Amino acid sequence: MAESESDALVVLKRRGPVALLTLNRPDALNALNRALLRQLAERVHETGQSDARALVVTGAGRAFAAGADIAEMRGMSPHEAEAFSRLGHECLASLEALPIPTIAAVNGFALGGGCELALACDWIYAARRARIGQPEVGLGILPGFGGTTRLLRRVGVAWAKELVLSGEPVGTEVALRIGLVNRSFEDAEALLQMALAAGERIADKGPLAVAAAKRLLQEGQDADIRVAHHLEQASFGVAFGTEDRAEGMAAFLEKREPLFKGS
Ligand code: COA
Repeated sequence: MAESESDALVVLKRRGPVALLTLNRPDALNALNRALLRQLAERVHETGQSDARALVVTGAGRAFAAGADIAEMRGMSPHEAEAFSRLGHECLASLEALPIPTIAAVNGFALGGGCELALACDWIYAARRARIGQPEVGLGILPGFGGTTRLLRRVGVAWAKELVLSGEPVGTEVALRIGLVNRSFEDAEALLQMALAAGERIADKGPLAVAAAKRLLQEGQDADIRVAHHLEQASFGVAFGTEDRAEGMAAFLEKREPLFKGS
């Protein structure tokens, strides 16, 4: 990392087998500007190169991220805005494509690009105080980092339409009910602990199997179901050629904990 940790807009740390990415622009509620998105892409790339078994994404201060940076967007031409949207999409697509499970720990506001960042993670845990939504229409714009696509797949068309077209955020209670958030926790501290603990439990599982299952769940959503079923059958077969599956089954039958090597 070129910049010192305190200057970094995105901080990557390790907590045992779990990587922890923290958006670090708390004075602007972690608003996503171009510099932050570029750093996020770099840290995601580093995570992909590392031996981390899970990733938790969170925000410093009272927000997860309050959206794309409105001050920066104010002066953008249509051409620049399209490039900005592309930058956000590329960044979030690389996050989504990581072969390890990713958990968004939404500690506060997750609005606009913040909601879209959380949606690029495999699932979302939230603190009770969180507010989540796509308020872009209130600025005369619309979601630009996947809000019209990933949100739809996560919560279904009716709730996606209500969130995007009304621009009104929801609290944790509604977010839980509509499947936007998997679990909620009393405060940001408990949230982070539980998200990291979930990552640690996954780290004990077979990493090749986890990666293959993630890919199937991800790609299968948009594939024809018969194609998705064939992909599952093929991946199931591939798993049987791994040392991990020999270890996993032997450990069960020998009544001991498995030790997976990812091979
Ligand atoms: N872009 C740029 N700066 C932002 C921002 C954003 N999306 N969201 C918050 N900030 C900045 C504020 O301008 C303020 O900066 P300042 O202290 O220099 O004035 C600081 O973060 C704190 O925000 P503030 O609005 O004072 O906090 P609040 O508690 O009163 O309100 C929100 C919190 C989240 C309700 C409010 O900041 C908000 O509505 N943000 C924009 C949300 C949005 O429309 N996002 C989609 C963008 S496409």
